[in-house]
Amino acid sequence: MTDFRDDFPILEKKVYGKRLVYLDNAATTQKPDCVIDTISDFYRTENSNIHRGVHYLSELSSEKYEQARKKVSDFIGARDPGEVTFTSGTTDSINQVALSLAPFLKGNEVLVSGMEHHSNIVPWQLAGAKVKAIQLDDDCNLLMDSIDITDKTKLVAISHASNVLGCVNKIKEITEIAKDYDVPVLVDAAQSIQHLSLDVKDIGCDFLAVSGHKMYAATGIGMLYTSDRFSDLIPARGGGGMIDKVSFEESTYLEPPLRYEAGTPHIAGAISVGAAIDYLQNIGMSNIKKHEHDVYSYAKDRLLEMDGVDVYGNTDEMCGSISFNLAGIHHYDVGLILDKMGVAVRTGHHCAQPLMEILGIGGTVRASFALYNTREDVDQLIEGIKKVEMMYN
Ligand code: ALA
Repeated sequence: MTDFRDDFPILEKKVYGKRLVYLDNAATTQKPDCVIDTISDFYRTENSNIHRGVHYLSELSSEKYEQARKKVSDFIGARDPGEVTFTSGTTDSINQVALSLAPFLKGNEVLVSGMEHHSNIVPWQLAGAKVKAIQLDDDCNLLMDSIDITDKTKLVAISHASNVLGCVNKIKEITEIAKDYDVPVLVDAAQSIQHLSLDVKDIGCDFLAVSGHKMYAATGIGMLYTSDRFSDLIPARGGGGMIDKVSFEESTYLEPPLRYEAGTPHIAGAISVGAAIDYLQNIGMSNIKKHEHDVYSYAKDRLLEMDGVDVYGNTDEMCGSISFNLAGIHHYDVGLILDKMGVAVRTGHHCAQPLMEILGIGGTVRASFALYNTREDVDQLIEGIKKVEMMYN
């Protein structure tokens, strides 16, 4: 596989005089030239508000925006672009579902897993639901026997891949179980869409939430897939662009997707997602998966063979993130020293405090991968870790 580093201008940067090894991709990925150019071209030559004007530029930007929606729809295997709403990110997507479903969730239960990001816990609590978690075994596999769906369970909300561990959950099995109880399923795919091929019809979920910025597009843009069986939800946001008729007494709303997109959206962001999808599809998701699997496995093997390194999570399928700790050295110190060696990682609880509690730790060092990472990057990470150990021992 070609080295894609050259497509990402920021990776030419030297950090403290060192070659930059960017391993904080679960936080946000870097952007290829084609995405940066698309954003710049939009503001230089196409900028206008969408679905409002009759003028040339408005029609042009509306067309580009809707083309981006169609690309997302095809990319995730939706039945129709109307099932795709642009939001501001995964967190916003999940919060919008929580607000729309709040009347059903209040006083009831949402079933999540033990490895959820706070954004798949707190919105349900804000909606008045009790959050219950599917338990994990020692390798962080979901314990399917602990799935406890009762008549109070109104939603199952599960991450596809953990932002901390990289464990990929068996979401299809979960949607099948939930279907037996007629409970809808939301999948948080923020940490999988950039690594694996997704098909919402095959997964069988009702909602799927993702972020643009973790899949090589702009920040501030996300997508929410809402199955057409939920086409008449109460919109979480009200305002311009989503109404059919407004009076002081009452308002009626458009059909999806516009029903769920009040106000002026992040037009350039949506178009950048379209460009990122073109980029990913030109490479091919199966090629990306193969390359990333090679780099990920190499990193994991090298970490596992080191004395004094604890690596967390070990499921059949893994992607994106690897979390570890060095015995007796605080994760924050490890991150700071690696940074001085040009290696960017994230440290801390990664917005997953319940998972830290389960693992019995305060935080981890997390290396998270993207398609431009290589075995050479892993070697630089391992050299960095050896230096940290030498400094402390
Ligand atoms: N959710 C992002 C992460 O895991 C920010 O780093």
